[in-house]
Amino acid sequence: MDSRWQLSHKSVKRAYAAVSPFYDLIFDRVFYPGRVEAIKLLGVGPYDQILEVGIGTGLNLPLYPRHRRLVGIDLSGHMLQKAKERVRELGTPHVRLVVMDATRMGFQDNSFDHVLATYVISAVPDPIQVLREIKRVCRPKGHIIILNHFKSDHPVMGRLERMMAPLITRTGLFKPDLQLTPLLEKVGLVPDQIHRVNLLSGWRLVRCINVKETRPQVWPIEGGTHGS
Ligand SMILES: C[S@@+](CC[C@H](N)C(=O)[O-])C[C@H]1O[C@@H](n2cnc3c(N)ncnc32)[C@H](O)[C@@H]1O
Repeated sequence: MDSRWQLSHKSVKRAYAAVSPFYDLIFDRVFYPGRVEAIKLLGVGPYDQILEVGIGTGLNLPLYPRHRRLVGIDLSGHMLQKAKERVRELGTPHVRLVVMDATRMGFQDNSFDHVLATYVISAVPDPIQVLREIKRVCRPKGHIIILNHFKSDHPVMGRLERMMAPLITRTGLFKPDLQLTPLLEKVGLVPDQIHRVNLLSGWRLVRCINVKETRPQVWPIEGGTHGS
């Protein structure tokens, strides 16, 4: 595909610098139910160290248990500036915010107990590399939570999303036709839970337990629970 129709670091930075002043107006209410479910599914223990990838303006921050140790990274300094203001307003201790590219994280292997990425994975230029990095920095058996819209399984909707993809991707904000299953397969992540959330159940909330060694694994039926 023509590179003008792909997300790039430059287009993402430009787009999120432009939307950062009014991002919360769009992404707060409509996407709130999914956020609540995502934090629940994360299952944060009292001493857990959490990484939030592409934390944006920090809309999830009020939903975490108050004294949890959290690191938030984002490519966009403009988005992160809003998150910093939110941390100040909330008076949330133990939150560290860093401008960082999620395709090249400056953390050692197994640095975090759990990792969360809400509405991010279709907004990054290289989702495979981001998931590889998430796997690397998350400890074995840690929870990896992904909340996102993925290409619809419905034939008409799916075709529409594919048709609109070049134009939407060109805005630098996100790619509407990212497919969940091939993405996870490419990085060796297997979901133990998949739920449908938000308006018209149009977003998928996925939990993977981080398995670092290779072994045959089984995919669950949507909405169902497997293992823990
Ligand atoms: C749609 S926003 C989601 C923000 C936040 N997670 C939320 O739930 O509202 C996508 C975010 O991903 C960030 N992003 C895109 N590519 C990135 C990368 N390579 N590394 C880190 N953050 C990235 C953008 O800057 C933006 O803040």
